[in-house]
Amino acid sequence: MSRIIIVTGGVGTLGRAVCKAIEAKGWAAVPVDIADHVEGGLGGVDLTDEGAVTSAYARIAATHGRLDGVANIAGGFIWETIADGKIESFDRMYQMNLRSAANSCRAALEHLSEGASVVNVGAAAAGSAGLGMAAYAASKAGVMALTKSLSEELAGKGIRVNAVLPTILDTPANRKDMPDADTSEWVTPDDAASVVAFLLSEEAHAVTGAAVRLAMGRKG
Ligand SMILES: NC(=O)c1ccc[n+]([C@@H]2O[C@H](COP(=O)([O-])OP(=O)(O)OC[C@H]3O[C@@H](n4cnc5c(N)ncnc54)[C@H](OP(=O)(O)O)[C@@H]3O)[C@@H](O)[C@H]2O)c1
Repeated sequence: MSRIIIVTGGVGTLGRAVCKAIEAKGWAAVPVDIADHVEGGLGGVDLTDEGAVTSAYARIAATHGRLDGVANIAGGFIWETIADGKIESFDRMYQMNLRSAANSCRAALEHLSEGASVVNVGAAAAGSAGLGMAAYAASKAGVMALTKSLSEELAGKGIRVNAVLPTILDTPANRKDMPDADTSEWVTPDDAASVVAFLLSEEAHAVTGAAVRLAMGRKG
C-alpha cells in the first residue's frame, strides 16, 4: 500500500536521498524545509516555529487525505571547543536539532494512526561526544530522549518511533571540511536513506524505540 511520508530537511543532502528512497518504494515523499522553493512539498517552513509546523502538516494531511509517517532529517552541525565557542551555540543546536524534531513529531501526531512510523536522525557522536562536539552532541542526545520517550507514549497506538545515528555521511559539505579524510569509511546518503526507508516500512513492524547506528560494515 502506498504511504504518505513527510521528510523534514527534504532539500538537504540526506533529506533528498530519503525522498528518493521513499519514492523508490512507490510511496509519496512530501519534503518540508526552510528553503523557499521545495519541489513537491512545502517550503519556507521554519521547523522551530510550532504554529508554522502545525499548519503545514494540517495542509499536507488535508491535501493527501492522510499521513503515514515522518522522517525528521532537518538539523545542523557546529564544531567548536567549549573554551573558544559561544554559549549561544548550545541554544542554536537545541533549536535546529531537538526543537525542530519535537515540533515535527507533535504536529504529526494528530494525523498518524496505527501502522504509522516516525524516524528521527540523531548522531553516533551523541553517545560519546568528541572534541568540539559538545553543543551538537548534547542536542542529538536530546533527539534520542525524544525518540525513546515517544516510542513508549505511542506503543499502545501501534505507532513506531525509531532513530538512526549516522557516523560521518559522505556529503559535499564533509568532503569540503575534511579534504584529507578516508571517505571509504563514510556512509553514503543513499545507504543511510535506505535504512530510514526500512524503518518507515511495514517490514520494520517489530522495531520501535531503537537507535540504529549507521557505519560502514565494509569499505565503501
Ligand atoms: N552530515 C553528516 O555527517 C551527519 C552525521 C550525523 C548526523 N547528521 C544529521 O543528518 C541530518 C541531515 O544532515 P545533512 O548533512 O543532509 O544536512 P543538510 O544538507 O544541511 O540538510 C539539512 C536541511 O535541514 C534544513 N533545516 C535546518 N534547520 C531547519 C529549520 N529550522 N526548519 C526547516 N528546515 C531546516 C536545512 O536548511 P538550511 O540549509 O537552509 O539550514 C537543510 O535543507 C541532520 O539532522 C544532521 O545533524 C549528519
